[in-house]
Amino acid sequence: MNKQQTTRQPHPSLTGGAKGGSLITIAIDGHSSCGKSTMAKDLAREIGYIYIDSGAMYRCCTLFALEQGLIAADGTIDEAALEARMSEIHVSFQLNAATGRPDTYLNGECVEQRIRTMEVSSHVSPIAALPFVRAAMTAQQQAMGREGGIVMDGRDIGTAVFPDAEMKVFVTASDEIRAQRRYDELVAKGQPADFDEVLANLRERDRIDSTRAVAPLRQADDAIVLDNSHMTIPEQKQWLLDLFHKKTHPSPSL
Ligand code: CDP
Repeated sequence: MNKQQTTRQPHPSLTGGAKGGSLITIAIDGHSSCGKSTMAKDLAREIGYIYIDSGAMYRCCTLFALEQGLIAADGTIDEAALEARMSEIHVSFQLNAATGRPDTYLNGECVEQRIRTMEVSSHVSPIAALPFVRAAMTAQQQAMGREGGIVMDGRDIGTAVFPDAEMKVFVTASDEIRAQRRYDELVAKGQPADFDEVLANLRERDRIDSTRAVAPLRQADDAIVLDNSHMTIPEQKQWLLDLFHKKTHPSPSL
């Protein structure tokens, strides 16, 4: 694993509180295409924390498997070959000065666009369900978050990766709204998109992600639910910031 290369510059007033002066860990989990990464990136930028897109790491494993011919046309994965080659997968993130957001790199090459295609989306959940893939990615995520000061989004961050995270959010929105958002995103990037295919893909990913044996998608008992179906991006950002301030500056007990 290459070293995380995004920088963190926490504002002094934004740290402390929950851990007696140290940086906290923020886990944002939820269903496919519910806008987790947008809100996690915005929050991290605002509070000077590092943002890690754990889904991008599973997408990199999927892109690697596709490009190495380890996924057959019928979707069958050559699990033995992928397991043997897991050590060849190095994911890192680098801040893109133009967008102000981190780009994903696979083995030193920027794959930010290529990991977001429908082809990758349609194979990622079976890849992410493989126990050896999860073990490798979970270990890397835990290493990245060892010092706190991190916002990580995914499916199992509050339950399996950082079960002790001080702030856990579980995000959801209606299927149709999520599909519309993802469809608009693909169209905006000039990628081929079909609404019904996008909707079917996110439902299928939710099904696989929620029913897999290892670290299934579920709400952590201590997570706070955010249904953002009818929220604007600025509204959800404010909601998260308010929660962050509550966690780091709890009101003194009377
Ligand atoms: O962007 P979107 O919410 O649609 O998905 P993503 O966060 O990019 O994640 C892609 C896929 O990776 C998910 O559908 C899961 O199958 C898998 N994933 C996972 O298993 N565990 C995580 N912590 C993050 C993603």
